[in-house]
Formats: sequence, structure tokens, C-alpha cells
Amino acid sequence: MDRRDLNEELRRRRQELYQGGGPQALERQHAKGKLSARERIERLVDPGSFDEVDPYITHRHSDFGLDERRIPGDAVVVGFGRIDGRPVALAAQDFTVIGGSFSEAQAQKVCKVLDLACGSGTPFVSLNDSVGARIQEGVWSLAGYSELFWRNTQASGVIPQISVMLGPCAGGSVYSPGLTDFIIMTEGISHMFITGPEVIRTVTGEEVDFETLGGAQAHAAVSGVAHFVAGDEDEALAITRRLLSYLPANNAAPPARLASQDDPHRADAALDNLVPLDDSQSYDIREAITRIFDTGSFFEVHARFAPNAVVGFARLHGEVMGVVANQPAWLAGVLDIDASDKIARFVRFCDAFNIPLVTFVDCPGFMPGTVQEHGGIIRHGAKIVYAYSEATVPKLCVVTRKAYGGAYIVMSSKYIRTDLVYAWPTAEIAVLGAEGAVGILHRRQLAEAEEPDQLREEFIAEFRDKFGSPYAAAASGHVDDVILPSETRARLVAAMDFLRDKQASSLPKKHGSIPL
Ligand code: HXC
Repeated sequence: MDRRDLNEELRRRRQELYQGGGPQALERQHAKGKLSARERIERLVDPGSFDEVDPYITHRHSDFGLDERRIPGDAVVVGFGRIDGRPVALAAQDFTVIGGSFSEAQAQKVCKVLDLACGSGTPFVSLNDSVGARIQEGVWSLAGYSELFWRNTQASGVIPQISVMLGPCAGGSVYSPGLTDFIIMTEGISHMFITGPEVIRTVTGEEVDFETLGGAQAHAAVSGVAHFVAGDEDEALAITRRLLSYLPANNAAPPARLASQDDPHRADAALDNLVPLDDSQSYDIREAITRIFDTGSFFEVHARFAPNAVVGFARLHGEVMGVVANQPAWLAGVLDIDASDKIARFVRFCDAFNIPLVTFVDCPGFMPGTVQEHGGIIRHGAKIVYAYSEATVPKLCVVTRKAYGGAYIVMSSKYIRTDLVYAWPTAEIAVLGAEGAVGILHRRQLAEAEEPDQLREEFIAEFRDKFGSPYAAAASGHVDDVILPSETRARLVAAMDFLRDKQASSLPKKHGSIPL
């Protein structure tokens, strides 16, 4: 055999690799509207930038006919490439090979690339399309999952980990994504569940279809497992690229800052009239966010889940910020269990990756009632105050209207160590809303009054006069300044210039015990 033959052999082997599970399996994949693992990678990364690792690995099991199905690369393609010129580590499950089932070999490959990503401080993106643990391999596939879950946990807070769901992900194939930072689901094509409809019918008798059980809408709007929903695979990959553009490569890397064309002193006069004076009227806090931050830069996360809170990334004069807000346009912006989980998780992600936080407060308090109390609003709500209290990144806060009671405290208040708290002239900072407070403070007088309605109105007016503006809080330093809404952008930019190199110390500990 001469050198030319050796090179030919390599080319032939490569051609074989690109077939995955074979032309028929690939055809079936395409017929479902799904791409192959390599096609997905090609569309995700910068053209020609992907370098594959371990393409020849095969499994080493023989039971249940596996010896007949030994395919180079097994059921996953792994390697590294670039997105917008920045390095990224990748794994793409190949459904054409035994349903992308998770095998010992798949674990070996994915763990290797995740180890390389952690060592080099490179974000990790996983394109998921798998039936779960490869049943024929028994404990070997389960042990493979354990290895991956352990690595996902070690990598958490070190490098960003993104899971893109592009097929039916069952059993173990949902737990690795569940350990990562962001999950993107594809509408109609991806499903996530621990056990599928058949097992559910056998065990509990419940009848449920795939979409209702674990479709994109179920996980984006109800369970909160999914952070983003895409209409198709291309959109899922586009969301992945946009998300990465806001994230640093790792927890020690500089922020993903871009040069900004937007005037840092831009004063948007529309902000001065955004908040209705009648506090029973709502407005969309996203209008404030989009007007304050760099034009077109707001990227909402978890948009369909707990819409009474808004979280996302935005740029402030080019600098990436984590934005958290109550949403008065939905349930008056009340804090409930889901909103608490949404906010706390986002705050912790931002803090882990040194992304400064800006919080907008307009919240009547925590949602009352047995559903919330018995669902654990105490431990869920506690997560918000825990997350803000442990966060050491620069923290800024703007109270736009109501900051009542517990909501005032947990939503980035001054004494859970927010660096600068600003209030708009419409801010109302009090233990309770005026009606509720008057009912408690003056119960006896109102019960004994000849004209209780008139007296109640007088008491409410007195209470509003005291707490219906930000000046009582400003007079005691509980807010740092009262600002015109149209000044907000310039004031936040100035605050970030001041606070960018903030140093904060914490007590030594192994780790805290966050309420769960
Ligand atoms: C090995 C499997 C498999 C499995 C399916 N296949 N599940 N092979 N191990 N777990 C094979 C099929 O025989 C088929 O092989 C190929 O994968 C594609 O599967 P289809 O059923 O044809 O695909 P589809 O119709 O799209 O249905 C997908 C599916 C269904 C809904 C996911 O396959 C399914 O319900 N599978 C079982 C899911 C599951 O229970 N997994 C184990 C979870 S336990 P051919 O030869 O035809 O290509 C687990 C343990 C870890 O993961 C738990 C940690 C928390």
C-alpha cells in the first residue's frame, strides 16, 4: 500500500462517517423535518470552522444485536468551532444511529469535549435529539449519564452551557439539559419528558399526548424548563448564536462588550409619561427597558414563563447587563412561585458570569392565598432575596412605581446590598398599599365612625401623602436619588462607569444552602 492509498483510505472512511446511521435513516430524519447532526453543526457555526473530535469511536457491546450495529462515531458528533469568531465546544446527537441513544461511547465523547471546554474556558452547546439511555447497554449507559451529569454540575458557573432540543428527548436525555444554563426548544419537533405517554398510561392510567406532556409550549409556559421557543431548527440555532453574543466565554473572561453607536446620554421624553398616575392602571415595563437600553439590544429570556416578571439581557452603552423587572401588565406584577424561581435563577446566572444587574420595581407584593402558601411561596420567594444578597456584581435598581412590603425588600433593595437605588417620581415605597394599610391601622376608628367611607378616604389620602411618593425613602437614604424617567439611561451609564471594578467580599464558606 503506498501513501496515496493510505490517504484514499482516510477519505473513504470520512465519507462513511458522514453517512451516520445510513442513507435510509437520514432520509427518515429529513422526512420528519429534522436535520442530521453534522448538518445542524454546519448551520450553527461560522462556515468551515468545525473541527471534529473522536469521529471513529464505536461502542463495545454485543448484547441484543448491538454487535451488528457498530457505527463509527456512535450516536454523537463532537468537536469545536467558532460562532461570530468566538470559540465554542459542541456535541450533536445523531438520531440516525440507534435513535441517538446515550451509550457508554457517547458519554466518553461528550465528556471529553466538555472537559476540554472547561479547561479552555469555552462555552458548551449541546444539540439534543435522543431516545435516552441505550437500553441494550444496561448499566454502562446509565454510568455514562452519571459521568455527564457530574461534569455538567462541575462546569456550572465556570462556562456557559446551552442545550438545544431538536427531537424527542426522553429519560436521561432531559437531565443533562436540566443541569445546563439555558434550554431552547423547537415547536412541534422537540419533546422533553422523564417517561413517555406509554409508560404514564401503564403506571397511572393517565392519557396524554407527546405535545401536551412535553412539548415546547408546555415547558416554556407551564413547567419553566425551557427558556426559549423556536419555530424551527434554523430559528433555534439563530437563538443560540444570539444568546452566546451576550455571554462571556467563562467566569473569568471579560464581558461580551460591543462598541455602541447609541448616545449614552440619550434622554427619551416618552419615559416621563409612561407610568400611569392611577396605580390601578397598567403599562408594559418592556417599553421602559427597550427605551433605556441600547436600541434593539433587549433579549428577553424565559418570556412565556411567569410573565408577571421579565428577565433578559440588554446592552447599556455596549456593556451587557442582566435586566430583571416586575411586569405591571400581567397580574399587576405580583411575585408568585414561578416569578420567584425565574428571577432567582437569572440573578444567579448573571452573578456567576459577572454580568451586572439592573432591576426595575413595580410590585404590589407576594401573591396571597392557599395555592401559593401551600405551594411553598415562602421557600420560593426566599430564593430571590438569597440570590440578590449573594450576588457581588454591580447591582442597580430603579423603582418605577409600587415597592410594597416584601417586594420592596427582595427586589434588589438598598440593604440587601444593591449599590445604587433610584426612584422615579411615581414611586410609592411602603409596607402595604394605602387601602390595606388604612384598614389595619384605623380598623377601630372606622368601625366606630358615623361616616366610615369619608373617614377612610381621608386616612387613605393621609397615607398616600406620606408614602405615595419616593421622598420619604429618599429623606432617609433608603433610595439614593429621585430621578426623571428620561434621565435613567444616562444615570445608569454613569453608575456603571463608577461601579464597574467593584470589589465585594463574602464570608468564607464551602457553599450556602439556597432555599429550594
Ligand atoms: C435503544 C432505542 C431506545 C432506547 C428507542 N430506540 N428507544 N434504542 N435504547 N432507549 C430505538 C428504536 O428501536 C429505533 O431503532 C430508534 O431508536 C428510533 O426510535 P423510534 O421509536 O423509531 O423513534 P420515534 O418514533 O421518533 O420515537 C421516539 C421515542 C421512542 C418517543 C423517544 O423511541 C421512545 O419512547 N423510546 C423509549 C424512550 C425511553 O424510555 N428511554 C429510556 C429512558 S431511561 P431503529 O433500529 O428502528 O432505528 C433513561 C435512564 C436515565 O434514559 C434516567 C436518568 C434520570
